[in-house]
Amino acid sequence: MKICVLAGDGIGPEIVAQAIKVLDKVGEKFGRTFEYSEALIGGAAIDATGGPLPEETVEKCKAADAVLLGAVGGPQWDTLDPAIRPEKGLLGIRKALGLFANVRPATLFPQLKDACYLRPDIVEKGLDVMVVRELTGGIYFGEPRADGEKDGQRYGFNTMVYYEKEIRRIAKVAFEAARKRNGRVCSVDKANVLDVSRVWREIVIDEHKNYPDVELEHLYVDNAAMQLVRDPSQFDVIVTGNLFGDILSDEAAAITGSIGMLPSASLGASNPGIFEPIHGSAPDIAGQDKANPLATILSVAMMLRHSFDMAAEADCIENAVQATLEKGLRTGDIMAEGCKLVGCTEMGEAVLAAI
Ligand code: IPM
Ligand code: MG
Repeated sequence: MKICVLAGDGIGPEIVAQAIKVLDKVGEKFGRTFEYSEALIGGAAIDATGGPLPEETVEKCKAADAVLLGAVGGPQWDTLDPAIRPEKGLLGIRKALGLFANVRPATLFPQLKDACYLRPDIVEKGLDVMVVRELTGGIYFGEPRADGEKDGQRYGFNTMVYYEKEIRRIAKVAFEAARKRNGRVCSVDKANVLDVSRVWREIVIDEHKNYPDVELEHLYVDNAAMQLVRDPSQFDVIVTGNLFGDILSDEAAAITGSIGMLPSASLGASNPGIFEPIHGSAPDIAGQDKANPLATILSVAMMLRHSFDMAAEADCIENAVQATLEKGLRTGDIMAEGCKLVGCTEMGEAVLAAI
């Protein structure tokens, strides 16, 4: 299996290094060989080539079976021309690989329940939400868009647009996912205000006819955001557009108490997909061996399961992560009383040992 590694910026290189060690260890155990190529993205690519997504990176990703990504961005690139910001590299590679579905599971590890921000009586009911976010359409990519001047003042606008085809294929991903989970989909939109959302809802309802065994409900995004903190146990799969999904997936992650724990997969009609932690590049702790590598390690497990059909290998990694938490090892972001504070490398080593 060929994996293209895009370490990116900030803590990206540190967390990716731990994930690769884990992958190699699992390969050794199960008799699998993983081959790696490396390519530049984000700020690292801007510094080296002048742009956030060199053509060579796109080619290397396309030649791979899966892509492992760290994180992009940092304050030193914030003031650049928006056309070449690090984030453009990430959006560009998603688009170039046709990765329209971003799958972000937010679960609460039992060992971390004290790190959860919600009241114990709420958490007790369970927290296992999968956000299925549309990733290559909506307001992120809609045209026209502008950042300019009009009538003597600055102005800017973007366009939120969805085509039936885009809505249908993401709805399908959500319904299929629900079938393998608890059989419930909540579609999130703003159909009380936005035309694009009314079309979204209409097409989701129509596509649902092919999935009569799955339960479908609809929530407006403001209500969904509120319900997610009030009672997350009511959700199984949430399907939504690019912008709402960006926001709700951070919220779903944060209520588990540990954005540093959650993996994600960006998938298209075929391989390669991109597997990456949900969190960002954390420039404040970059290069200090403090970052939590578990979200990236769990992203590798998602890669094995989704792209390579290696369920036993994926289980092995997930169990090793649980065993490591069970031992009481914690990075700073999930530290609790009575636990042992460790760095990024030590956490990675502990997972290796558990494998
Ligand atoms: C994410 C991030 C990206 C997004 C940024 C870095 C462009 O927030 O993956 O959720 O908005 O999609
Ligand atoms: Mg985000």
